[in-house]
Amino acid sequence: MRRENLRASRLLGGLFANRVIAFEAREPIGPESLLEEEARYVRRAVHKRVGEFAAGRACARRALAELAITSFPLRVGADREPLWPEGVAGSITHTAGFCGVVVARTTEAASLGIDAEQRGAVHRRLWRHIATPEELRWLEALAPSRAADMAALVFSAKEAFFKCQFPLTREWLSFADVSVSVEPGAVRTGPRAVSVTPRRRVALRGLPPPPWAGRYALRGSLVVTGFGLPPRER
Ligand SMILES: CC(C)(COP(=O)(O)OP(=O)(O)OC[C@H]1O[C@@H](n2cnc3c(N)ncnc32)[C@H](O)[C@@H]1OP(=O)(O)O)[C@@H](O)C(=O)NCCC(=O)NCCS
Repeated sequence: MRRENLRASRLLGGLFANRVIAFEAREPIGPESLLEEEARYVRRAVHKRVGEFAAGRACARRALAELAITSFPLRVGADREPLWPEGVAGSITHTAGFCGVVVARTTEAASLGIDAEQRGAVHRRLWRHIATPEELRWLEALAPSRAADMAALVFSAKEAFFKCQFPLTREWLSFADVSVSVEPGAVRTGPRAVSVTPRRRVALRGLPPPPWAGRYALRGSLVVTGFGLPPRER
């Protein structure tokens, strides 16, 4: 692994009010960086998948080192979720040319979720699969370039929120189960506010009521979104 591929991520760190540690990699990271217990999860995977999995683990290892946690094998749970060390919340995302990880002590955040997507990736024909009827009406009323960004954001926000809530609830949510609201404003500045509201019961017991607030940023070819839930009350 080339260490210079990894760097602290201001882009991801800026998505959170919670104190998080964020790292990103913009170039491939080889599978030789994987620990033995991690490598077994991608032994039969295709080259691209091995690369993104290795990049995520390398970013996670670097981030965990900031919490003085070293040599921790980041295993994969039954539902593909990363199994973070006791007392740590975290999230991983990867897309073409970008991999990112955020972690925090659970005294800072009960759970974290991040997602990165390509801005043009959610084509118009896909909108009805990821958007609620209200979101569809909103997207259709926007100018085309803004609509492309906002469709990618709706997708990204739902994926990020899904990753954030899953470790706490173990609930599977469909794209129709939550709706996304976006802070209006200039297109290319960030981070900006985004929030998610359930359209059915979501059992986030012990946490504040919805809407759940996150942040997003449009940067270069990417839209990135992050959700962080406050620590559980003792
Ligand atoms: C899990 C899921 C969100 C991943 O999103 P993606 O855009 O395909 O891929 P990303 O690269 O951004 O994220 C992948 C990472 O998510 C993490 N992840 C996977 N399953 C997860 C889960 N159940 N809970 C939390 N994190 C999970 C993993 O760390 C994975 O990377 P890794 O396998 O290398 O460790 C998506 O595949 C999925 O299953 N979604 C379920 C439906 C949904 O999103 N509904 C939205 C309604 S709220």
